[in-house]
Amino acid sequence: MKLLITGGAGFIGSNFIYYMQTKYPEYEIVCLDSLTYAGNLTTLSDAIKKENFTFVKGDITDKTLVNELFEKNSFEIVINFAAESHVDRSIEDSGIFLMTNIIGTQVLLDAARKYNIRRFHQVSTDEVYGDLPLERKDLFFTEDTPIKTSSPYAASKASADLLAMAYYRTYKLPITISRCSNNYGPFQFPEKLIPLVISRALADEKIPVYGKGENIRDWLYVEDHCEAIDLIIHHDVVGEVYNIGGHNELANIDVVKGILKSLSKPENLISFVADRLGHDMRYAIDSTKISSRLGWLPTTSFDEGIQRTIEWYLNNRTWWNDIVSGEYKTYFEKMYSER
Ligand code: NAD
Ligand code: TYD
Repeated sequence: MKLLITGGAGFIGSNFIYYMQTKYPEYEIVCLDSLTYAGNLTTLSDAIKKENFTFVKGDITDKTLVNELFEKNSFEIVINFAAESHVDRSIEDSGIFLMTNIIGTQVLLDAARKYNIRRFHQVSTDEVYGDLPLERKDLFFTEDTPIKTSSPYAASKASADLLAMAYYRTYKLPITISRCSNNYGPFQFPEKLIPLVISRALADEKIPVYGKGENIRDWLYVEDHCEAIDLIIHHDVVGEVYNIGGHNELANIDVVKGILKSLSKPENLISFVADRLGHDMRYAIDSTKISSRLGWLPTTSFDEGIQRTIEWYLNNRTWWNDIVSGEYKTYFEKMYSER
């Protein structure tokens, strides 16, 4: 089996590469990643040691490069993780989000079509559904919930989903789409809530909590997500969308306080700052479809997953210290100084 994994130097893509290398050591894996600020080749240093793994530095919007790559390799499955993924950055400047997330997906879809791949899997997000009100705990996103995006990031991901579905309907391209909730775990870039809190708390730095911290996210341990994608790409049915949730709904403030407690850090590190524009209130996933059809259920409780994540950040300080001391420092000051 030969796989193309795009965005594999980022958080979820790299976890997926390690998951696949362990479970299917015989699979050939090619990773295409342009190494943006969020991509890190150090993350893949163990993966690269394997003979049947190849890293290609390149942009998914580069049609010539993508076509050459497909021409050279007979990929059977393409899994598209490559994206601009941070909502706050999309609010600052949406241009690159449209380029990578929409045009990049289109370039990959066209190549997948031209070279007759067996499956194109698009990694999407629950954010395409917008949000749910805090006071309606009975509501969940299903695969039939209308697309109703809030941020430019979500709009770009929804566009890519619609394109993938259009290629299925129009050209019978064998696509699948998964829409997952907030992931956490090793190798997550420290601009996202959980690694941001861990890294700043360890440095005794203020932790910015948007608004009142009451927004709810459904936290999915990254390995559970990898298992779900593994099941989807090995299941024969195409043209399907699957929601993937962690069954771990928590308010941001509780996530932050829990991490501070685990690290024995004081709650006065918390600093309530101006809310995110258009901030989604609650995400909650109904993953009945993937459970009933593919037998998937998340197996990592939040208590267990967050302890594993905290330990990983404690044991891998060089990985994130290099990030927080570099260009990211300028980003943090720009994004948070006037908040
Ligand atoms: P990430 O930002 O950590 O990694 C993205 C990777 O894509 C990086 O390695 C980056 O270098 C690469 N990349 C960006 N633009 C590229 C381009 N034009 N060409 C080639 N490579 C490019 O993202 P992540 O958190 O690992 O998310 C992976 C996917 O999962 C994304 O599609 C994202 O929308 C989706 N998703 C993430 C979450 C989450 O909680 N992290 C939740 C739902 C969905
Ligand atoms: P984030 O990790 O950016 O993921 P997403 O926006 O995709 O849900 O944010 C998770 C939640 O945490 C979200 O409600 C915004 C909030 N948040 C903060 O309160 N402070 C922060 O510094 C960040 C980055 C996020």
